[in-house]
Amino acid sequence: MKNLPLLFCGIFFALAFSFVGLVLASHIQLGSLTRTTETVTPSEDDPSVMLMAEGEPLYPRLESGIVKQGKDVYISMGCIYCHTQQSRRDGFGSDIQRGWAPRQTVARDYITQDRVLLGTMRTGPDLAHLGGRYAGDSGRDWNHLHLYNPQIVSPGSTMPPYAFLYDVRKIGNEPSPNALTFPPNSDYAPADGYEVVPTRRAVALVEYLLSLKIDYSLPEAPILEQ
Ligand code: HEC
Repeated sequence: MKNLPLLFCGIFFALAFSFVGLVLASHIQLGSLTRTTETVTPSEDDPSVMLMAEGEPLYPRLESGIVKQGKDVYISMGCIYCHTQQSRRDGFGSDIQRGWAPRQTVARDYITQDRVLLGTMRTGPDLAHLGGRYAGDSGRDWNHLHLYNPQIVSPGSTMPPYAFLYDVRKIGNEPSPNALTFPPNSDYAPADGYEVVPTRRAVALVEYLLSLKIDYSLPEAPILEQ
């Protein structure tokens, strides 16, 4: 064992080198990122020219309470095994051409999140900007029907149904205001006299999905075309 000091030096340098490369270098590059009010706006003289300026809100937004609850459901249901939340830049994939997001996502987009769900596999579409693609009440209804059974709105989909996040129950005196509205003659509609109502977990999950939006510019990733 006369080479013991050399062995220790080797181990030390291997660990030190990877620590510097992986931890310190990333910290120097990304550790100081903060939320920003700087955004891209059309110039006053020539609206076709976009300039960086101080804007109003701070971006990226913070996650609200119900969004955080929905994120827990997203994690526990394993949605991340089939969906990513990262949009690649032009020339590195067709995310922008497909209309999945108006720009690439960058490190700063994720700094307000305590758990970042980038995902690794795209069995289904990227969800980074889902809330921008399915907005408002119609987007909410679409997502509830799709989660209850993807075949209702996406025939032939390979996504599993999450019907257990919904209660099928007898209609009382009046139908519930939040009961799902099925398309006419749908094979998946409940029997006459019954309705499908989202549970709290389904409500939170859909609010989380609708909150996923890349609709703001950052200095390093401006949205140049609306
Ligand atoms: C086995 C893989 C798989 C899993 C698990 C999965 N999905 Fe999907 N998802 C897909 C596929 C494939 C599509 C595309 C077809 C369609 O619209 O149903 C899709 C589509 C979607 C869409 C519509 C996207 C768009 O751009 O139109 C949403 C929203 C969605 N999934 C959310 C979820 C959520 C939330 C979960 C977890 C509760 C989940 N998915 C779990 C495969 C999956």
